[in-house]
Amino acid sequence: MTVKIFDTPEVQDFLKTVAGFEQPGGSERAKQILHRLLADLYRLIDDFDVTPEEFWSAVSLMNELGKGTQFGLLAPGLGFDHYLDMRLDAEDEARGRTGGTPRTIEGPLYVAGAPVAEGEARLDDGSDTTSEVMWLTGQVRDVNGNPIAGAQVEVWHANAKGGYSFFDPSQSQYNLRRTITADSDGRYRARSIIPSGYGVPEGSPTDQVLKLLGRHGQRPAHIHFFISAPGHRHLTTQINLAGDRYTWDDFAFATREELVVDAKRIEDAQEARLRGLDGPFTEVVFDVELAATDDAEQQVRHKRPRALEAA
Ligand code: DHB
Ligand code: FE
Repeated sequence: MTVKIFDTPEVQDFLKTVAGFEQPGGSERAKQILHRLLADLYRLIDDFDVTPEEFWSAVSLMNELGKGTQFGLLAPGLGFDHYLDMRLDAEDEARGRTGGTPRTIEGPLYVAGAPVAEGEARLDDGSDTTSEVMWLTGQVRDVNGNPIAGAQVEVWHANAKGGYSFFDPSQSQYNLRRTITADSDGRYRARSIIPSGYGVPEGSPTDQVLKLLGRHGQRPAHIHFFISAPGHRHLTTQINLAGDRYTWDDFAFATREELVVDAKRIEDAQEARLRGLDGPFTEVVFDVELAATDDAEQQVRHKRPRALEAA
């Protein structure tokens, strides 16, 4: 079929009816956005001559995505999370807000309510005795280099198989998830295990979409952070460990140059003993700089639906 009907008055009137323009109730913003979205999709169907088979297979794929709560997994792969960051960065630049460690995407696998520890925490539950121990440490400072005592450092990462607790029911509650309150010198210390890279589940609807694009669904080994302190901008970020084959080929587009961190192998026996270990371990250091703000809204993470593990 090569007919083009999008620009006819009939279709244009139909779109207005569908978007509720003739109805007094509802939300004006929702009507405007849906009208635009539907118009773009109707036009696309016309331009690409999308067949009924193609349309309904897309609907079926979306049903599968929904069933597996996979929209949140696909969104980073389609660049939405990074695009929203690019918009926030551009807004910061336009407002002259500079300084501070750069943000990058939260990702879909955060769970609220992790245990809180003072200064130091062990993130892993000890069940994985074969993975290398990781000591993750750092200092939270303001843009003038002054330590921020008591800053909240929330950390979460995947296990050696790339799985996240809560979403991977084989792991214990809050495994590899903690909030650490930085000490009086702004320092935090976490003992954990080295995370593996993450891959979207093989054969999942998200994987199917990426395969259609000729892309993979792999992320480098990475560690997520929320960092906050009164009087400072809340920071959502993550570090990617250097040397991973996906560090610069992250399907979720979260890698930023300033956020690639070396994982340093420490073989010195005395150093190991000081950390209570009898073998080599890997040290990851991530110092964080928070920009100051008086704006209360900038001091908290943005609102979005997030998983909360039942106590
Ligand atoms: C996805 C998974 C992650 O662990 C992450 O940090 C970002 C995105 C995902 O499956 O889309
Ligand atoms: Fe992640």
